[in-house]
Amino acid sequence: MRHAKPSTIYLKDYRAPDYLVDNTHLHFELKPKATLVKSRLKIRRNPAAGEGLPPLFLDGVDLILLSIAIDGALLSPEHYEKMPQGILVSVDKPEFFLDIQTCINPEDNTTLEGLYLSNGMYCTQCEAEGFRRITFYPDRPDIMSKFTTTIVAPKEYPVLLSNGNEISRGPCEGDHHYVTWEDPFSKPAYLFALVAGNLQYLEDCFITASGRKVKLQLFTEEKNINKGDHALRSLKNAMRWDEAVYGREYDLDIFMIVAVDHFNMGAMENKGLNIFNSACVLASPETATDATFQRIESIVGHEYFHNWSGNRVTCRDWFQLSLKEGFTVFRDAEFSADMNSRAVKRIEDVSLLRTNQFAEDAGPMAHPVRPDSYMEISNFYTLTVYEKGAEVVRMIHTLLGPRGFRKGSDLYFERHDGCAVTCEDFVRAMEDASQIDLVQFRRWYSQAGTPQLTVTDYFDETLGTYVLTVRQSCPPTPGQREKRPFHIPLKLGLLDKNGNELVLDGQGTTQCVLEITEAEQSFEFTELSEKPLPSLLRDFSAPVKIDYPYSIDQLLFLMSNDSDTFNRWDASQRLAFLALSDLQQAYRTGGVLQLQPELIAAYRSVLLNRDLEPALVAELLQLPSEQSIAEASVHIDAEAIVAAREFALQTLAEALFGEFRAQYTALNVRKSFSLSAKDIAERKLKNTCLLYLCATETADALALAQEQFDTANNMTDKAAALSVLINHAGDKQAIAAIEQFYQCWKEDAQVVELWLGQQSRSSRRGNLSAVEKLIQHPAFDLKNPNRVRAVIGGFAKGNFSQFHRSDGSGFEFLADQVITLDKLNPQIAAQQVIPITRWKRYTGDLARKMKIALKKIMDSGDLSGDLYEVVSKSLN
Ligand code: TRP
Ligand code: ZN
Repeated sequence: MRHAKPSTIYLKDYRAPDYLVDNTHLHFELKPKATLVKSRLKIRRNPAAGEGLPPLFLDGVDLILLSIAIDGALLSPEHYEKMPQGILVSVDKPEFFLDIQTCINPEDNTTLEGLYLSNGMYCTQCEAEGFRRITFYPDRPDIMSKFTTTIVAPKEYPVLLSNGNEISRGPCEGDHHYVTWEDPFSKPAYLFALVAGNLQYLEDCFITASGRKVKLQLFTEEKNINKGDHALRSLKNAMRWDEAVYGREYDLDIFMIVAVDHFNMGAMENKGLNIFNSACVLASPETATDATFQRIESIVGHEYFHNWSGNRVTCRDWFQLSLKEGFTVFRDAEFSADMNSRAVKRIEDVSLLRTNQFAEDAGPMAHPVRPDSYMEISNFYTLTVYEKGAEVVRMIHTLLGPRGFRKGSDLYFERHDGCAVTCEDFVRAMEDASQIDLVQFRRWYSQAGTPQLTVTDYFDETLGTYVLTVRQSCPPTPGQREKRPFHIPLKLGLLDKNGNELVLDGQGTTQCVLEITEAEQSFEFTELSEKPLPSLLRDFSAPVKIDYPYSIDQLLFLMSNDSDTFNRWDASQRLAFLALSDLQQAYRTGGVLQLQPELIAAYRSVLLNRDLEPALVAELLQLPSEQSIAEASVHIDAEAIVAAREFALQTLAEALFGEFRAQYTALNVRKSFSLSAKDIAERKLKNTCLLYLCATETADALALAQEQFDTANNMTDKAAALSVLINHAGDKQAIAAIEQFYQCWKEDAQVVELWLGQQSRSSRRGNLSAVEKLIQHPAFDLKNPNRVRAVIGGFAKGNFSQFHRSDGSGFEFLADQVITLDKLNPQIAAQQVIPITRWKRYTGDLARKMKIALKKIMDSGDLSGDLYEVVSKSLN
């Protein structure tokens, strides 16, 4: 906990380490409250760091130091200095062995960093700075070492795992045994992992392109062993994909995945021993929704891809986090796109970016993809570093083309294999391989904020020339008032009045990428016989906001004619945003709420169009979420947003009841479950129809939901039915469904989390007192991040109307929870507080009440560094 204000760390202060650690030998004697950790480090003065023998700093947090020795000679206290965050050891030779013994307490470790216990299983989480909670160590990613790890534990923990290959095992005194692991690859401490427990495993194997056989193992508690097939299948697909697309093979003889219930994030790419949040790896058709299956595939891919983009080539310092995360998210997105529907994947990713990353860019924690400073690095595992970082890599891919990009990634991996490098190294490899100049492009790494493009056009009838003028600007962000122009790839096509693509050059090209580099720039297209309609920013070719004065008719036209699937969806969203903004305006001024007949007609034609893929129909029918409407507003008027969206949903549901009903019936056929893209799309469309039908709250519609709830043979359909019953059925029917579902699934952790989340996200039933009751429910546990995310996160991030109630009670509730949570798990506390940190964008009283809640946290006593950073920056 904090006693002084945590200090700020700056990228500009980076210095190479004074000492290197060539070898790290670890020896663990596991005990719940007193694990003994012995480490032997082979240390050497870093020749690149200058002269003399400065003292050696070792990070250490919450450790009991038992002994410390250099080359076998115990050090007395005058040879080292205890500091708040570690120890400073006097050094008198350039090379030596350092032996340290510490004692740690995994059972009481609720931070879920370092070594901790989850349901009786020992596990570790070392990224970013968790290794310093295991032993004193220079815990920074540019120190790479060869690790050997021995684990001693009672035989009730038959499975003892660490990174690399098992090299020996055997019995020890008194019902104990040991296993020793050796990792032949040098790695930073953040990639270290240890697992010990009574676990079962599934085993499979993979033959690499060069013919090596890799053993694949997935470990879980016995009761979950039937939920691992999908992850193993996804792993093999990911291994094959990385060979085919990037030419990258796996490099050890064994690859292990472990499922853990208590985990701060999704999963962790520890070398050869990935550790996963159970919710991101375990699935069966009866217990997991299609969205969960797809999330598992993408996260299994993500962690696997880190073996090259992260582990073989790692980060020099944590400011470079996007080097591995942005690149790896780009890799996993392309993998998912290749495995499923490319268009749907892109639509989902862009929705996430626009709703949540744009909000981050416009809020008090806004930072560049490569931040310049931080107090707590855990606060920078953000949508900006991950998702915007991936968009930056995607833009490089667009500018270089697939072949240039592949040459660049080959060069990057070859040049930097085994090294800890920077974003600059990545960009330079891309430049060197392709001969394309990315000097100005680098600003994407250093400037925060979402650029805004404003496009106007002009057609000269007599000359047949069409001129597009593009202006760019970027709003100020904390610490960055002025922005210089970005290098923006703007992909576009031009449509004629029949919806055909115009040819843009002599080669028959119908799509081009304009490179925007200046604050204002014009582009001319010649020899056109009519004024075209531009289809701009196709496939979302850059993470920007783009404004063009489309009329409603033009948007309807794009929605049905654009050859770019993404832009067809985008046109539907623009239409909905226009309508919702009119509705908000009418609501605020006490006018009559009315939805344009054109919009209703457009939804009808989407529903009736038999040529459209069901996947796309389902996407086109989604109304923007309240959160995304909020993000798109200059001033957020929560009450008007809720009223407008509710009205639009009701109006569409009533006007198109027959069409929704017919589509639902056509798709609601009994068949055996499959995860094919087609079946997933059909379930999504069917359940979208069900939601609209039940929004009318008619007995007829609710009977369909009940029928689906009672008879579904998979969790996608079951959960969709439960959700509409919770949100639209009367008390008796809804409460019966909630209760019945719980009785059926209360032993299944993942389903219980889904059940908790649906209730706290329910605008109908998830009011504050209901959420307070959920917190008292035996299934709730403040020490389990998944439960916290389901209930507290579900309410604050997923229940827009109840959380933003005008009395501010939602904000005060969140503040109180965050204060309690901070004592247990600072990372989770800092994640959960985010919704009230964006108070400046809200209108009137809500802004004031959010700020009061923030102040309450600030004044509550000692805050963790994590929470202090977020709260203090947002009160600024
Ligand atoms: N590197 C992990 C990833 O794949 C992120 C991660 C997992 C993490 N657990 C963490 C980051 C705990 C901080 C703290 O994205
Ligand atoms: Zn990652």
